[in-house]
This record gives sequence, structure tokens and C-alpha cells, in this order.
Amino acid sequence: MSARRHAFGIDIGGSGVKGAAVDLETGELRHERIKIATPQPSTPDAVATAVAQLIAQADWDGPVGLTLPCVVLDGVAHTAANVDKSWIGTDARTLFSDALDGREVTVLNDADAAGLAEDRFGAARDIDGLVLLLTFGTGIGSALLNNGTLVPNTELGHLEIGGMETEHRAAASVKEREDLSYPEWATRVSTVLRGLEDLFWPTVFVAGGGISRDADQWIPLLTNRTRVIPADLRNTAGIVGAAMAVDAGITP
Ligand code: BGC
Repeated sequence: MSARRHAFGIDIGGSGVKGAAVDLETGELRHERIKIATPQPSTPDAVATAVAQLIAQADWDGPVGLTLPCVVLDGVAHTAANVDKSWIGTDARTLFSDALDGREVTVLNDADAAGLAEDRFGAARDIDGLVLLLTFGTGIGSALLNNGTLVPNTELGHLEIGGMETEHRAAASVKEREDLSYPEWATRVSTVLRGLEDLFWPTVFVAGGGISRDADQWIPLLTNRTRVIPADLRNTAGIVGAAMAVDAGITP
């Protein structure tokens, strides 16, 4: 049972800063998620202002978990592949805590948050062993969990498979940019999954990101050997996982 019953999760993405209070026993949102457009450029100060606005709008005064599309170690962002480069080296935990009147905050990688949520409440809730979640979006995010324990910051979107970074080969944005059909894109995803399964031997892959909504159009076309299941929580996984990270005291 959770030490806390509710926490607030905020998922910071390229287009939106989205948040809600989460019931940590069921993984359900306690109210409709609140969305604020991500400021452009998405600098740390501008995003922190949006976060403060969101929390004020929600009238929430407890602890907050936040995701970033970055490697996050001890609250500090170390990479910024698809977000403003000024995040690199930013102490995000201090930044957000200061923006929220010094309250307790937890910051983690966006895919790691989605993985925590899918593993506990979503597509992988009944699966034992190694779960490898991939989020297909602007880039490819990854979360590796063994029996519910997260190995943070795996960054498999940047692993070279077949001489190419996986996210350059098979992110959802690549499908759009190159106007690939689902069969064409599924061939690329299969290459990525074959490379990953030969290295990690997961029990299951969970496919997340917006494109998992159309899972029936491409998952059946995959030719790798490990089972691939679509994410369940869709656009709430990051929020739920961020809230869970507060409760678990995760400080990757
Ligand atoms: C970043 C990851 C992030 C993923 C999804 C990648 O480019 O390196 O940290 O999880 O995109 O946003």
C-alpha cells in the first residue's frame, strides 16, 4: 500500500505541460487533466512558470512529480535530445521546487515515468519478469523494469542498431517526416525490436506514444520474436508515473 494516497504528476512534453492529481492505489486521475501549451522556446524558466501556473490552476498544495524528456540524475537534467538545449546541466529539482514555493518535487525521465505506470497499472500489470517499454514520438524513449523495479535512464532511443540510432530510424516523427506507410514503418520498428531483444531478452515489449492508438495497424506487422503489447494508459501514463515517483521516493 502506498505511503501517500494521492500525488500530483506533471508530464512535460514538446507541445504540452499536462498534469493531474493521481490516486496512487488505482492509478486513476482524480480530475480531468490540465494542459498548458509548452512555452516556445521551452527554456527551463519558461517551463517552470507554466508548471507553477498549472499547479495554481489545480489548487494543489502537496508534493509534485515531474517528467522531462532528458536523462535525469539526482534532479539534474543531463541531456536534451528533443527539447531546448538549455536544459542540459539544469538542476530541475531546485528550479521546480523554487517555482512551487519550496515544496518537495521529484523529477524523472518521461519514458521512465510511463514505464512505471504501465508496469503497475497498465498494459504490463500482470506480466512478471523484464518489461521493456518504448515510447514512439518525436524521439524514442525507453523504460526497463524487472519485476517492477526500474533501471532509470536507459536511453535506448540512442542505441545504434544496424548502424543507425534507433530513434532516427523508427520514431513516430520519422514516419511522418518521410511519409512512410504502416508496413514500411513496421519494418523499421522490427529492426529496432530485433536488435533490442537480442541484447535484453525482455518478457514483453510495451509500445507507447501517441502512435500506439493505432496499434492494430502496425503491431500485427512486426516480425520480431518477443510479444509486443500496446500501452494502456495512453496520454496519462507520464502523469501517473510522475505521481508514482513521488510516492516511491524515486530520485534517479
Ligand atoms: C530522449 C529521452 C526521452 C525520449 C522520449 C529521447 O530523445 O533522449 O530522454 O525519454 O526522447 O521523449
